[in-house]
Amino acid sequence: MLFRTTTKLFTKLAGLHRPLALTALSRGVSSYGRQAQSRLAGKTVLLTGASAGIGAATALELVHAAAGDLRLILAARRTDRLDVLAEKITAEYPQAEVLTRALDVSDYKAVPKFVPALPAAWREIDVLINNAGMVFGLERVGEIDAQDMEVMFHTNVLGLIQLTQSVVPGMRARGRGDILNIGSIAGLDPYAGGSVYCATKAAVNSFTHSLRKELIDTPIRVLEVQPGAVETEFSLVRFKGDKEKANKVYEGTEPLTAEDVAEVITFALTRRENTVVAQTLVFPSHQGSATSLHRKS
Ligand SMILES: NC(=O)c1ccc[n+]([C@@H]2O[C@H](COP(=O)([O-])OP(=O)(O)OC[C@H]3O[C@@H](n4cnc5c(N)ncnc54)[C@H](OP(=O)(O)O)[C@@H]3O)[C@@H](O)[C@H]2O)c1
Repeated sequence: MLFRTTTKLFTKLAGLHRPLALTALSRGVSSYGRQAQSRLAGKTVLLTGASAGIGAATALELVHAAAGDLRLILAARRTDRLDVLAEKITAEYPQAEVLTRALDVSDYKAVPKFVPALPAAWREIDVLINNAGMVFGLERVGEIDAQDMEVMFHTNVLGLIQLTQSVVPGMRARGRGDILNIGSIAGLDPYAGGSVYCATKAAVNSFTHSLRKELIDTPIRVLEVQPGAVETEFSLVRFKGDKEKANKVYEGTEPLTAEDVAEVITFALTRRENTVVAQTLVFPSHQGSATSLHRKS
């Protein structure tokens, strides 16, 4: 669905999403200033996993930083959520253009069809944010369900690689572009019970570094943001909808919010063209490693 706000729609939605609009107004043009705004101006951003957590927060943060002068392609499987997010964005920034599209990155053989199937005016991707990702379970080696293993690798690794492959030739031809991959502390500091997820994020890290080296003779930037503990739906997905188990992960701690990570992503993408935020490990205050989290209670 393409969201371009008409006055009527804007009026309707401004009413519906008043708290969000007021929040943004109180923040001024953006949290990064006019230079960041001009660096994002008019860019086409493809963001995966935009229906929740870090992805949804990043869509909002980027559009604030661009003061609405942005073209966003929001992709995920839950398109109903994408449509709600797109309405929020266009209600607040009528000039922003937002396209929502269904994408299952785990169907990695179909992923290369995604960009060519976009309307012609949307195919020149300036910024790809490979954020879609997930984890299943805490099983130890010997107990890991083969299907869970497959879904994690297909989503976090193969889908990410295939989508990246489909934008790199265009970025090369145009001589510009940013590719930002969401890795994890899990990719740098593997932990017991997370062997497959950690391996997928280590793969993202290796792929990101290789790609940067391959593109060294181009201005294309290859970036990675590696969050520590962030409270999103991530743990709910890990425990397949078991809220009690998911809540226990964060009990007594103060994890990052999706918005905290979105600010870091936006910071990385709005630096001067010659500045590559190659790796960014982001922890909350009381985290020291993948498994070292201070619990107050
Ligand atoms: N939360 C943390 O503690 C943490 C820490 C380090 C790294 N990360 C990474 O951060 C990224 C975002 O996670 P989050 O914390 O924001 O989790 P989240 O709230 O569960 O959001 C995950 C997003 O990924 C999308 N997604 C999952 N599988 C997909 C698929 N097959 N195809 C397309 N989209 C898919 C989901 O959309 P649909 O379900 O609608 O498709 C959703 O929008 C992930 O790569 C994750 O590994 C998270």
